Amino acid sequence: MQPASTEIASRTAAVINEFKALDGPLLPILHGIQEEFGYVPGESLPVIASALNISNAEVHGVVTFYHDYRRHPAGRHVLKVCRAEACQSMGGDALAAKLQQLLGIGFHETARDGSVTLEPVYCLGLCACAPSAMLDGEVIGRLDADKIEEIAAEVRK
Ligand code: FES
Repeated sequence: MQPASTEIASRTAAVINEFKALDGPLLPILHGIQEEFGYVPGESLPVIASALNISNAEVHGVVTFYHDYRRHPAGRHVLKVCRAEACQSMGGDALAAKLQQLLGIGFHETARDGSVTLEPVYCLGLCACAPSAMLDGEVIGRLDADKIEEIAAEVRK
């Protein structure tokens, strides 16, 4: 259930207080908000803007510029697929397309049943084992068609 807006505002204010004294506090605050909620709720943006004395548009611009910030709650699993060069050169594009087909969602989308959110990532430091992905924080190397099917089945459980 979505928390009430007042609850979002007060939890947002607590995160702001933690990071407000830093130089350039906006990004650390947004990271903190995403850690707190699992995404950056729209209701948090005016609270942040007002606390930092900047415009709503400025906060919104930063949130939409960095793809790491989710604007909606994530699924039960978060699957990040590497889209950088080494992985692409090892067939990453075709595997990513197959994975999207198996899951029925595109990048930056969450399955309707809330099982999984699919996100692109640009290098996991696992280039030697390309193509690579990360499922709920655990890296997976040497992806192939079989592993992709296993992953798709696993996140659907
Ligand atoms: S390019 Fe994919 S892990 Fe480095």
